Amino acid sequence: MKEVPQHIGLTMDGNRRWAREHGVEVKKGHEEGARRIEPLVDYAARQGIKYLTFYAFSTENFGRQEDEKSAIFQVFDMMLRDAVVERMMENKVRVNVIGDIDRFPRMIAGSVKKLVKRSAKNDTITANFALNYGGRQEMVQAVKKALSAGEEISEGTISRHLYTAGQPDPELLVRPGGERRLSNFLTWQSVYSELYFVDTLWPDFTPQEFAKALDWYEARQRRFGK
Ligand code: IPE
Ligand code: MG
Repeated sequence: MKEVPQHIGLTMDGNRRWAREHGVEVKKGHEEGARRIEPLVDYAARQGIKYLTFYAFSTENFGRQEDEKSAIFQVFDMMLRDAVVERMMENKVRVNVIGDIDRFPRMIAGSVKKLVKRSAKNDTITANFALNYGGRQEMVQAVKKALSAGEEISEGTISRHLYTAGQPDPELLVRPGGERRLSNFLTWQSVYSELYFVDTLWPDFTPQEFAKALDWYEARQRRFGK
């Protein structure tokens, strides 16, 4: 029996390099990147994976130039109106957000929240989207919430106030795009995660590429075998 992780984190990296390599505008790179999401969710659901977390926009990404941010937001807006949303609803995908989405343009934040609500009872797989997410920021807000609830600070109370409360920690983090670092992604949750890095740029990260990461993970697991 193939052992599949319950939760996998995916860092979406390499969109601009992909655009440059293909001689197209940066926005097209972000669009192609966004189009990889739904096939991966579908594939993961078929494998029995219960949670996928996509690192789509970090707190640090807010420091990018206005025109690039606006291109990224246009891509988000387009995807929220795209047929993929209905496909995910039909496939009973629960959409969830981790991060402080209220700093996003109001239209986008509103549509995302609506989709989160609308898909709340879906139960095939949960797709978490990390939007204006940072691992340190997540921990700080968790501690603040615990304190204001009058709770004592412990691993348990912090975990319960993270955006991922109630979800298993990711057994595997996958980072396409060639960089070998975590970049503030799932900082608290990743302490025991297996880390898979691959040079393939995110817009080329297909379910076939994902399958290679799962095979690699399975081999890692075997090395831990008793
Ligand atoms: C990831 O691709 C998308 C976001 C961070 C929003 P990049 O935009 O980081 O593309 P590269 O890494 O510069 O190629
Ligand atoms: Mg990058």
